[in-house]
Amino acid sequence: MPELPESSGFPGFPDGFLFGAATASYQIEGAYDEDGRGPSIWDTFSREPGRVAQGATGDIACDHYHRYREDVALLRDLGVDSYRFSIAWPRVQPTGSGPANTAGLDFYDRLVDKLLAAGISPAATLYHWDLPQALEDRGGWRVRETAERFAEYTAIAADRLGDRVDRWITLNEPFCSAFIGYAAGGHAPGAREGRGALAAAHHLLVGHGLAVRALRAAGVKEVGITLNPDRLLPATKSPADLAAVRRVETLHNDVWFEPLFAGRYPAHETETWGELLESEESFRHDGDLDLIGAPLDFVGINYYRPITVADAPHEDPDPATRTAVDVRATEMWRDDVRHTTMGWPVVPHTFTDLLVDLAKRYPTLPPVLITENGSAEADTVDAEGRVRDTDRVEYLRSHLEALAAAMRAGVDVRGYYVWSLLDNFEWARGYEQSFGIVRVDYDTQQRIPKDSYHWYRRLIAAHRART
Ligand code: NOJ
Repeated sequence: MPELPESSGFPGFPDGFLFGAATASYQIEGAYDEDGRGPSIWDTFSREPGRVAQGATGDIACDHYHRYREDVALLRDLGVDSYRFSIAWPRVQPTGSGPANTAGLDFYDRLVDKLLAAGISPAATLYHWDLPQALEDRGGWRVRETAERFAEYTAIAADRLGDRVDRWITLNEPFCSAFIGYAAGGHAPGAREGRGALAAAHHLLVGHGLAVRALRAAGVKEVGITLNPDRLLPATKSPADLAAVRRVETLHNDVWFEPLFAGRYPAHETETWGELLESEESFRHDGDLDLIGAPLDFVGINYYRPITVADAPHEDPDPATRTAVDVRATEMWRDDVRHTTMGWPVVPHTFTDLLVDLAKRYPTLPPVLITENGSAEADTVDAEGRVRDTDRVEYLRSHLEALAAAMRAGVDVRGYYVWSLLDNFEWARGYEQSFGIVRVDYDTQQRIPKDSYHWYRRLIAAHRART
């Protein structure tokens, strides 16, 4: 066992608090055309020149589809209570509708059984961005039909795995699916639209509501959704910057939290994208808010970094072609703190502030699970074959401390999943960004647990010994 970074100062967590690690299907599985898997929007997008750094794809990724036994062994040795993975819809329904592809479901069946045998509770995300391409060809999340198909797929997955998977997450970060995918064009399907993105946001929420119904009907234990609310800081106190913060708040946070936890659409939405909402027939139907707001057992929160917002001119001055994300705001670089290789500032107390604020603002907020938190760093393997990722250890330590502070302030947090178990395909950033606590050598598929893995293992063991 290598000598490890200082372990004193581990924050305390209550008895029963869950420690976990998270991944997602397209980012780790590979085996893109095996056992009847159909193409997803990420297979298409990653093949389009210029979309992903260095033209990377998830064709092979971490080859987890074939190496899941080894990866479950890493989880077991880490000592986690729970593992969050996602199910690839195009493995279960290659064209997004119709009968189940049994061979695809079998993979998750094997994975779940392996996890249970290792004493690890599985947490399954149903949608971590890999929409079947056939559904995108019919309009994707712009159309309501995709939400209905999502509920059918959910029912199939729950029918097969619901007896063994206790914790179900409908969507992962729908903000990214709707606004990075359909407005900014930086994620699949790479569209740059205004109204299409707003319709996508709404249909994702409708899909969530329908999936919750399907999961309740299947009698699963716990149901939730994973969101990525941002902690937004104004660059200055000028009225223009404060108004910019409000616009970004609407787009990043209120679109999701208001319908889910307050039974209403965002208060400032007209100010943010007025004419885009007013035109044509509404994609919002009577009864949608009730469907979307069905009670949940937990809310998953992914948190990485705060965003400093300043007012900015519209990128596109023509209202007819302006996209929904073009909200006259810009993200400012900070000179006062360290940034990770993603360019994300490390400011742990903003994690506390965000959680305390959310709990105050939404009295009906269900218990929180931190479903992702972690950092991308420039890891290197030293002469002894060791990855001394001290910056990642410090990031994790300080964010766990910030989480403990939020809990002391009264926020009901039940667990924490580190992102990520493995280095993996970081979407448009390809394999250039490493979030894993285990290094993956993509040439050999060798896994090397980093210092952060050993640190996290000791933290979990210390927690067990204490409680
Ligand atoms: C959020 C996403 O859910 C995950 O897929 C991604 O890799 C991490 N953030 C890091 O960017």
